[in-house]
Amino acid sequence: MSIDLSKSIMDVIKYRTSIRTYDNKPLSEDIKAKLQNRMDNVSGPFNEKVRFEIIDKFDKSNENIKLGTYGVIKGVSSFIVTSIEKNDEALEQLGYILENIVLYATSIGVGTVWLGGTFNKGEFAKVIDSKDNEIMPIVLPIGIPAEKRSFTEKMMRLVSGGKNRKIFNDIVFSEDFTKKLDESKAGEYAKPLEMVRLAPSASNKQPWRIVVDNSGFHFFLNHTKGYNSMGFDMEKIDMGIAMYHFEASAKELNLSGHWSKEFKHIKNTPKDTEFIISWLKE
Ligand SMILES: Cc1cc2nc3c(=O)[nH]c(=O)nc-3n(C[C@H](O)[C@H](O)[C@H](O)COP(=O)(O)O)c2cc1C
Repeated sequence: MSIDLSKSIMDVIKYRTSIRTYDNKPLSEDIKAKLQNRMDNVSGPFNEKVRFEIIDKFDKSNENIKLGTYGVIKGVSSFIVTSIEKNDEALEQLGYILENIVLYATSIGVGTVWLGGTFNKGEFAKVIDSKDNEIMPIVLPIGIPAEKRSFTEKMMRLVSGGKNRKIFNDIVFSEDFTKKLDESKAGEYAKPLEMVRLAPSASNKQPWRIVVDNSGFHFFLNHTKGYNSMGFDMEKIDMGIAMYHFEASAKELNLSGHWSKEFKHIKNTPKDTEFIISWLKE
């Protein structure tokens, strides 16, 4: 690895990319212990509980369980499986907390990819003993990236647009939704906003919209039609990921603030665009 990822969260965010082809080797105990330690110590801005567990295909106890990823993922034997109670804040909390783990994994050379659809839910649910009131929205393969991406991975990246992102002022606005905000005018928060722009999202839809005013940053979700088909709103997870990118980058730059759920009315809010949370400057 040519850059040192141990120092700056913003470097890690820029470096991370979804990995779908792994080296075909079991993950070392040392790496699993490091990830477990991180999992034991993360927390998020909401009260909701997130259950997660590292599971291994080759564990004796999983012998009769078929942990499948529909051929999308190659050469991996370990996963982080997650389970939450079914409500919106739990989805955001999951996005926030798991992205902390994803970026930590990236910083120690471990590849990951968020899987919301392309895994065999029933089989994974058996391993984590998912309860009736819980859902298992995400499974995260963890492993050392292979040197070359598989053909399926190249196709997936082509379909989802991989590293393509919207331009800054398509997601960041000033005062209300009629005025786009250029990165050059975003001041000391330009970088945290840019880190939101680089965040991963389901099908690379990038549903976050942020309105900036004197008090702070108001996060909205621009819902993609038909995206609720799984019985929960996957884009709330995208929002949690974006919140983590924003907050962690702001902290790195010594910019202080806090999250507030108090509803913020913004003029000219487009259809299908929902207020989620504000970051109020201190
Ligand atoms: C909540 C969520 C669910 C996702 N589900 C899948 C999935 O089921 N299968 C898959 O191959 N990629 C999935 N992805 C990965 C996205 O396609 C990927 O993050 C996006 O295209 C951006 O590419 P990048 O991660 O390489 O920057 C998911 C990402 C997120 C955040």
